[in-house]
Amino acid sequence: MTKSSIAVALALAFIGQAFAQAPAWGQCGGEGFSGPTTCVSGWVCTYSNPFYSQCLQGTAPPSSSTSTPSTTPGSGTTTKPTTTTTASGGSATLAPGYSFIRAVEDPNFHQYLQSKTLNSPGPAVLGSPSTAAQFQITSAGQLVQNAAGTNLYAHVEDRANSTVVKLAVSWSTTPAASGTFMFSGDTVEWSIPTISRPQTNAWLVCPDAAGNRLLYINLGAYDYMTPAGCADETIHAYTGATATA
Ligand SMILES: *[C@@H]1O[C@H](CO)[C@@H](O)[C@H](O)[C@H]1NC(C)=O
Repeated sequence: MTKSSIAVALALAFIGQAFAQAPAWGQCGGEGFSGPTTCVSGWVCTYSNPFYSQCLQGTAPPSSSTSTPSTTPGSGTTTKPTTTTTASGGSATLAPGYSFIRAVEDPNFHQYLQSKTLNSPGPAVLGSPSTAAQFQITSAGQLVQNAAGTNLYAHVEDRANSTVVKLAVSWSTTPAASGTFMFSGDTVEWSIPTISRPQTNAWLVCPDAAGNRLLYINLGAYDYMTPAGCADETIHAYTGATATA
């Protein structure tokens, strides 16, 4: 961003405040925010995280907990458009600072990381693009799901003994001290000092009896001695506006 565009953005933000409507791309909510909570015509106040909502064009918030319900131009009603989809196959439009996470190899090609029961604690699965969840990895190595405005933290099960070759991943409402997640380029990696693994980017997807594609850390090498019923995968950040099939 150039100095002049920053100046314009600041000026717009100031004007937006002065006229009690947040400008395009401006902040419109969040803890401690005291400015206007509605956006200029044609823009929608979109929840990003507890500290930040932003005016976006033609978007559906990924959250039902937007503190400032937005008025959709033309609809005449104030809505929480949690069921709105903006593109075929897409879940909500990706919020600023978040990524979708998906597999890119068959048999799980473009299946997206989410909770087995959407937006809920419990097993981590790969599933339909239409229900793709959105994620951040914190500087402390926590993988965090934006579950309709509530944070869910990835937990990795403890290794019971040295014969265990895969570790289940699940979502919890509390942060975990179970290893370190990171993006290496767009690839999601996981490591923990107590376990030596040949590759930090090796994952497994092992469907349960009901067909849920449960996600596991692969403690072995990618594509080598794959446990029965599982498929080797790497998983990757995807930052397109919507989750595509
Ligand atoms: C290792 O842990 C797994 C999972 O808890 C268990 O099923 C298995 O029996 C254990 N094996 C040994 C040798 O303790």
